[in-house]
Amino acid sequence: MIEIAPSVLAADPLHVHRDVSRLVDAGARILHLDIMDGHFVPNLSFGPQMVSALRRDFPEMTLDVHLMISNPGSYLQVFADAGADEITLHGEVKGDIPLMLQTIRRLGKKAGLSLKPATQVAEMHPFLPACDLFLIMTVEPGFGGQKLMPELLDKLGELRRAGFEGTLSVDGGIGQDNCRQVRQKGATRLVMGTAAFLSENPRALFEGCAAL
Ligand code: DX5
Ligand code: ZN
Repeated sequence: MIEIAPSVLAADPLHVHRDVSRLVDAGARILHLDIMDGHFVPNLSFGPQMVSALRRDFPEMTLDVHLMISNPGSYLQVFADAGADEITLHGEVKGDIPLMLQTIRRLGKKAGLSLKPATQVAEMHPFLPACDLFLIMTVEPGFGGQKLMPELLDKLGELRRAGFEGTLSVDGGIGQDNCRQVRQKGATRLVMGTAAFLSENPRALFEGCAAL
């Protein structure tokens, strides 16, 4: 069963509860939360207060936190305390990546690694045993509403061939027209920002992407 994770970055910031509720009513069970620091990526989004407010109002949802920040190690405890279920950091950051992944697991959360388009999967091989989730970026991270770069989907097969058995998530530019292709390349989770939040019929979108 494919998982679909709407990305709250695409919600109207003054109506997050309303917009998320609409997608929960349409069948969403996971929320993807893009945390940006204006340094690792050229944009700013929201922080742990958004995560804790969503945890409070949507206690049943899985909260999938994607840290696009240069110093994730300083914030793992903060996001765990805010109510994240899964915490993903980028493989490009400086610091002790195995230690950070181990810390996430020690906090009782699922640990994820994400890759910008230019970063090769082979560089991540040593870290795979410490990951529960891998998040392949199919756009340059920082902004919603970009076009998916299909050649990056080959990273999914590379991860499986390297023995990775966890969640394979894809992030960036996914919608009705390409979700089938993304699944066929091996994704087990689809992150959807613009397509989900702007959809006139999100239930049909989710069911259409779930049916292969
Ligand atoms: C981009 C973020 C994505 C983004 C996806 O940096 O990581 O999660 O919100 O949005 P869409 O689906 O609009 O590309
Ligand atoms: Zn994301």
